[in-house]
Amino acid sequence: MLAERLHSAWEARDKLLKVSTAPFNQYDTVEKAGEVALGSALIKQKKAACLIVAGGQGTRLGIQGPKGCVEVLPGKSLFQIFADKIKAAEDSLSVAIMTSEENHAETIDFFEKHRYFGLEPSQIDFFSQSQFPFYDDHGNPIIDENGKMISGPSGNGASLLHLVESGIWEKWNKRGVEYFTFVQVDNPLADPFDPKFLGYHQKQKAEVTLKAILRDDPLEKVGVIVLKEGKVGVVEYNEMAEKERLAKDSNGQLLYPCANLSLFCFSMDFIHRLWKEKAWDKMPLHVAHKKVPKLNKSMGYKFEYFIFDVLPYSQQTKVIVYPRDQCYAPIKELKDIKIVKDKLLAHKDKGQRPLGQRGL
Ligand code: UTP
Repeated sequence: MLAERLHSAWEARDKLLKVSTAPFNQYDTVEKAGEVALGSALIKQKKAACLIVAGGQGTRLGIQGPKGCVEVLPGKSLFQIFADKIKAAEDSLSVAIMTSEENHAETIDFFEKHRYFGLEPSQIDFFSQSQFPFYDDHGNPIIDENGKMISGPSGNGASLLHLVESGIWEKWNKRGVEYFTFVQVDNPLADPFDPKFLGYHQKQKAEVTLKAILRDDPLEKVGVIVLKEGKVGVVEYNEMAEKERLAKDSNGQLLYPCANLSLFCFSMDFIHRLWKEKAWDKMPLHVAHKKVPKLNKSMGYKFEYFIFDVLPYSQQTKVIVYPRDQCYAPIKELKDIKIVKDKLLAHKDKGQRPLGQRGL
């Protein structure tokens, strides 16, 4: 069954998905719709949790070890930046960290070595994501010299499935968690416990909320928020037709104004429903041509679940737009480390705390 699904995804790899999209522009802005009081109450009552995805292969960054260990502020790794924000938000908030098979042990060692950066070990759960085999140019699994299939991390969209299967969803549910945010470890401006965002999600009775920014460069490598069959969805930049990606309206504004940053708020019930419906047996598998781990420079086809493919299952999806410098500073390639560091520190020169560093 899995082999069949992988093979048909491989066969369709170069074809643009044939979903027709329409522009999405029914978004709110944080300035007008952020709900700080509601969100602060959720955090105080520990009804909010956070999932940090820190697995993956980090091909473009090309460094050894977990992405989360990369030092971005002087003496501070990405993991510490997130830990500091969690501590500043409230004591004992629930946090889950998704690792990959490759970096799981190293991630836990890093936290232990740094005494969990002051967090309580009992508030953090680590779980490792699943793997999919790499395929070669003929659509066959790639085998190493010992006859073993070479595999790679299954994409950050698998994280929600693992959250349930690992028992963490159940644990959070018993603790009274109602909502959780999804953040990527390679975006140090992501806020794991943003009261305005959480409060907005609750007020809108949403199953999923996307924290977005306005697109200012049509060629930026970010997913685009669209309407698919009348529902809010995302199309990855390399899966969107060029004509639509560049399209402008009669005022010269981009016809598709919002960029997806992979910053989400999910309702716990929604995730459980997805799991019960076996949604991951039906979700698309995206195919990327990437370096094959352990096979010096060889390329192969990698399969991944994308997080935004849960959106068609949501009965209430909302989008809230933030200023870019409040939520987005991605580290994808080596050169980004310095760019992001300078961006975060720019405020410090004016005697303010580094950008995105709450309560420190
Ligand atoms: P990317 O999409 O940048 O993937 O991940 P990547 O594997 O880190 O890097 P490349 O594409 O090979 O260069 C975005 C976020 O999702 C996490 C990463 O840790 C990062 O925080 N991620 C990605 C996972 O946790 N698992 C995956 O399988 C993929």
